[in-house]
Amino acid sequence: MISDKIRDILNEQINKEFYSAYLYLSMSAYFSEIGLFGFSNWAKVQSKEEIDHGMVLFEYVLGRNSQIHLAQITTPTFDMSSPLAVFEQIYKHERSITAALDSVAVMTEDECDLATRNFIDNYLREQIEEEASVSRIISKLKAFGEEKSALYLIDRELQSREYTQSCFL
Ligand code: FEO
Repeated sequence: MISDKIRDILNEQINKEFYSAYLYLSMSAYFSEIGLFGFSNWAKVQSKEEIDHGMVLFEYVLGRNSQIHLAQITTPTFDMSSPLAVFEQIYKHERSITAALDSVAVMTEDECDLATRNFIDNYLREQIEEEASVSRIISKLKAFGEEKSALYLIDRELQSREYTQSCFL
């Protein structure tokens, strides 16, 4: 059993993960609409991973004999002015998810819930990967993204991303 505080903050995190899935799916649609199908693929794969993150939390809460409260998922909005603008928002978004997970970790320590602390470490490790991968794409877009031929090559590279379940699932 987990405390009510831990239950509530994990339910909030579930909502953030599913919101992330929604955000990436809408970005995938945007990239597809402007003909960047590799970028679209990258965002769609990311959306699937976010659903996994939400589902693992969902199963964890139930597995600890606690309750799920699914809140409304808000409609994602983002600046569609360029691929770079989108990825800069992705980076900002992932930083906010990392901060939210940090808050979960702090609360687990306040509540002396070491099992949940250990569980949430998997998410924090995943965030390091996510922030690094987005940061690399931003660097490439800043260096070459103005050139259409370079953008085409980045798009081809992002087309190769394949969905795999996160290692902690
Ligand atoms: Fe599940 Fe991108 O955080």
